[in-house]
Amino acid sequence: MKSLIFSLLFIIANINFAIAAPGDVTAGKGKAAMCSACHGASGISAVDAYPNLAGQHADYITKQLKAFKAGDRKDSVMAPMAAGLSEQDMADLGAYFASLPRTVATASVDDSVTTTAVVQAAVKYVANASAGKSLYELGDESRSIGACMGCHGKDGNSNVLIYPNLAKQHAQYIEKQLHAFKDNSRTNFAMNQFAGAMTDEEIADMGAYFADTKAVANVKVRRVQTVAPVTAAVIAGKSKSAVCASCHAVDGNSLVAMYPKLAGQSADYLTKQLKEFKNGTRKDPIMAGMVAALSEQDMIDISAYFAAQKANKGNGEGSAIGRQLYFNGNVAKGITACVACHGVNGKGMGKAGFPAIASQNTTYLTAQLHNFKKATRENDRNSMMRNIAKKLKKNDIEELVKFMSTMK
Ligand code: HEC
Ligand code: HEC
Ligand code: HEC
Ligand code: HEC
Repeated sequence: MKSLIFSLLFIIANINFAIAAPGDVTAGKGKAAMCSACHGASGISAVDAYPNLAGQHADYITKQLKAFKAGDRKDSVMAPMAAGLSEQDMADLGAYFASLPRTVATASVDDSVTTTAVVQAAVKYVANASAGKSLYELGDESRSIGACMGCHGKDGNSNVLIYPNLAKQHAQYIEKQLHAFKDNSRTNFAMNQFAGAMTDEEIADMGAYFADTKAVANVKVRRVQTVAPVTAAVIAGKSKSAVCASCHAVDGNSLVAMYPKLAGQSADYLTKQLKEFKNGTRKDPIMAGMVAALSEQDMIDISAYFAAQKANKGNGEGSAIGRQLYFNGNVAKGITACVACHGVNGKGMGKAGFPAIASQNTTYLTAQLHNFKKATRENDRNSMMRNIAKKLKKNDIEELVKFMSTMK
């Protein structure tokens, strides 16, 4: 037994030893010589297909190099470049490129360059930078496209380290990546959802916006949320949901503050929750009993029914501080803006499974944010909510909840 413990300790000690030291700018500079052929001597590349690396977040660069090496991100040019790099090399290269200024605006405003992706189409589409900027800042809740600005920052200057800087990036490269996320050849859960819902024209608009970030957003483009249509599932769900009414009310506008409203919630999100109450991924003794007898079809029908109901006014009192945090996050504390995933109107991104939080009961919202913070609720994909909630202080949660429940 003792020798087993000793050998375990030995292994652990060696693992620690193998972990790369923090990146070193000077060492990285030496190692970057082979990268400069494509990415430019100062990390600003001369060719549109090669991304600028100067001023990119070090962690992001390191993550991408690992992904190219492991084949999780596929690119025939970068795979062999990354193959020979050790973790230490990657950390050093990340630190070096992050230290360089991204000063030169490189993007071209020539439409023939920024719309290459749609040139194949019979009629050449003239990309619209203002439309691109509007979509970037507001997203489109009705089609589950997140507000890009919430994660990538104003005009692409992201201050949250896990989200890449897009500012002063080559427009053509941005478009190529959006197409790669759209056809899932590059994988990232959130980006696959958002780009997947974008049309080729919108991708071209996004490129045009990055070629000309001085474009003025056309706020009139703000879309309205579509109400879920009444389908056969909605009708079937109505009778199946009778047993839920005692707590969630007949129309899903529960009157007791600790019970969530289900009215107007995204159907995909509701079905996910019901399945997870049943398989125990989301733990709640009351709901576990309620879903035990439901089949998958029952869950789909009930969810469709509640999704088609209109949510009534929330019980919050409003908060300017909460509003600010919701729309802008907090760069210093590394809090991602909620708007990125929950939308401008708080209606969520239904197809991506991001829930509506507008008009929701305050007691319920508060409880869930604390549950994510304490990780007693851990059914969020990729820890998306836990990573954010752990950075929220008790009073941040109070202000956010006061604001969110007034959204409609
Ligand atoms: C022969 C040209 C070439 C060389 C040399 C090269 N790269 Fe690349 N690099 C590319 C191309 C092309 C892409 C874009 C791949 C894509 O479209 O997904 C890229 C992408 C990247 C990315 C992802 C950037 C982002 O914004 O996601 C990183 C990081 C990177 N390269 C780092 C390096 C490093 C470090 C080196 C040197 C060790 C290097 N590259 C050498 C061509 C090159
Ligand atoms: C929820 C946060 C979030 C939102 C909202 C978001 N993104 Fe992203 N985006 C990411 C993350 C994370 C990555 C990096 C993925 C990876 O590690 O490969 C990324 C990567 C990208 C890239 C590739 C950058 C590079 O250097 O290779 C582009 C381009 C991009 N996003 C554009 C957009 C656009 C356009 C929108 C709005 C329609 C958007 N993003 C909305 C989180 C987000
Ligand atoms: C006895 C009261 C009660 C009844 C009856 C009840 N629920 Fe619930 N429900 C709750 C409570 C309490 C929660 C909050 C659980 C938590 O804190 O995680 C909840 C949460 C939910 C959620 C998660 C909502 C969200 O926003 O994440 C869904 C979905 C749900 N219930 C659906 C149903 C359905 C469908 C039925 C009928 C089959 C039902 N409930 C019956 C008390 C009840
Ligand atoms: C990267 C995307 C993302 C961002 C940014 C984000 N959320 Fe979420 N949020 C989610 C997802 C996904 C879920 C649902 C997890 C699941 O499947 O159960 C969720 C769930 C929630 C819930 C529980 C809803 C319910 O009905 O149970 C609340 C409350 C919430 N988020 C508040 C916030 C607040 C406040 C912020 C900003 C400080 C924020 N979120 C930022 C993705 C996000």
